[in-house]
Amino acid sequence: MKFFIDTANIAQIKEAKDLGILDGVTTNPSLMAKEGIRGEENILEHYIKICEIVKSDVSAEVISTDYKGIIAEGKKLAALHPNIVVKVPMIRDGVKALKYLSDQGIKTNCTLVFSAGQAILAAKAGATYVSPFLGRIDDSNWDGIQLISQIAQIYGLHGFQTLVLAASVRSSLHIVRCAEVGANVVTCPLDSILGLLKHPLTDIGLEKFLADYNKSQNESQKLKLETK
Ligand code: G3P
Repeated sequence: MKFFIDTANIAQIKEAKDLGILDGVTTNPSLMAKEGIRGEENILEHYIKICEIVKSDVSAEVISTDYKGIIAEGKKLAALHPNIVVKVPMIRDGVKALKYLSDQGIKTNCTLVFSAGQAILAAKAGATYVSPFLGRIDDSNWDGIQLISQIAQIYGLHGFQTLVLAASVRSSLHIVRCAEVGANVVTCPLDSILGLLKHPLTDIGLEKFLADYNKSQNESQKLKLETK
């Protein structure tokens, strides 16, 4: 399972990369706005900056909602860098545009997916990735993990090549559950990735190992001094 980070924050992207486990980045207009990136030129420059850091897939979302607009924007984004993945919303014109862009060899990520039916459409249109929003489904009292599992099962049964990219991941447990049910990729905040490191028994165990090591070092030093 690949790990993407879901942010436009350069410091967090660098920190995740430094950990050695980063496979890509996803962004969306809300995440760009959160970093204060405004205006088309600045937004495009920011995508290039991210691509130069991670050297792997970076999802950049279109703002247009009509077929022609999505295609034009998608081509512009794809031309920025070979690692750009054009993120297209799950709407009627979005599906048409996904098919067109995929046929042109442009990588795509179908976003705002909340049902298995939508995921089937995205796969039929040839999307590289499909992004079911697991956390937002949980928020609405549905089972987000159940949806990830259902999509993974359908894609496996029918041999769809589209990769299941679990989005709106909110916790470390979400990541583990996604791995269990067959997500190909998780995109998550840095905190959820770092949360996987934590276990109190690891800390207690390490403290004991180091204390025992130091104790035996002190004893051997003492023995050396006594035999001199
Ligand atoms: O990848 C989609 C993600 O950014 C949405 O997350 O937490 O706003 O539902 P959230």
